[in-house]
Amino acid sequence: PLPVIFDTDPGIDDAMALFFLARHPAIDLRAITTVFGNAEVAVTTRNALSLCALYGLEVPVAAGAAAPLRPRSEAWYPTHVHGDDGLGGQSALVPAPTRQADGRAAHELICEMVNAAPGEITLVAVGPLTNLALALRHDPSIAAKVRQAVVMGGAFGSHGHFGNVGPVAEANIINDPEAADLVFTAAWPVVLVGLDVTQQVVMSQDDLAALRGKGQGAGDFLWAITRHYESFYDGRDGIRGIYSHDASAAIFLTAPEAFGLRAGPVRVVTEGIARGQTIQDFQGLAGSGSPWSHCPSQQVCVRVDAARVRAEFASVF
Ligand code: BDR
Ligand code: CA
Repeated sequence: PLPVIFDTDPGIDDAMALFFLARHPAIDLRAITTVFGNAEVAVTTRNALSLCALYGLEVPVAAGAAAPLRPRSEAWYPTHVHGDDGLGGQSALVPAPTRQADGRAAHELICEMVNAAPGEITLVAVGPLTNLALALRHDPSIAAKVRQAVVMGGAFGSHGHFGNVGPVAEANIINDPEAADLVFTAAWPVVLVGLDVTQQVVMSQDDLAALRGKGQGAGDFLWAITRHYESFYDGRDGIRGIYSHDASAAIFLTAPEAFGLRAGPVRVVTEGIARGQTIQDFQGLAGSGSPWSHCPSQQVCVRVDAARVRAEFASVF
């Protein structure tokens, strides 16, 4: 099985992705690292520990960044999407954590595990990219030792999806554009699973209802926490169901054939009104000496077989 470190800000779709990684036989989940994002990092860390208790997971959970690389004037959390507790107002259904977080900071854990198994570890990052950026700064040599970084983030407009928290910015990227730009321009292979594909994978009410009673309690829990998420999307985008953003990134590991990729360097706008926008030079238009010329080619998901992804998710219950 593929050794994975899961970097996350649980988060409703994060909770779905974690269950998938915990249960899929082709995945060897080695650790969880947490970051601010859907809620403050103390809350996302507690949620991760609670989800471990619920899913029967014993891997280390290391708390990470509480704020982006460039400090914001004011903290902003999407409580209208994920609830005050990050779990759709349903944290009463989650068991209390049965253990404490690891003593290491998230980026230290990432560096240690990658150095201990060069070439083997896949990083799956589904929150702001601050921990990955801190890990690269802490030990730049890890770039050559990570097998692959799969990121839920960004929006490239290939199907008209440019942003979900502003006209051109996706939530994980706008939460730390400097970190995202560092991660995408580092010399390691990155796959971006952004809104271009995640907004095409709608898990319907029927898909979610079918999980109830399955997965040793997880199906009922995921049904309960997605009630709030579903009504948010119904009111906003008019979809009957939910976008399974983070779960789609996790599923890329086990069903890569369900995704169509586009190659080219990726940068993030860090200044001005387009702050947080992700851009890929997939046609090789930027010349030498441009801000793109030193950047490695990365892979952006632009097509997806949504039925295949939904079936892959259901297969772990
Ligand atoms: C991303 O933002 C978060 O709110 C979700 O958990 C997901 O990682 C979607 O834009
Ligand atoms: Ca997330």
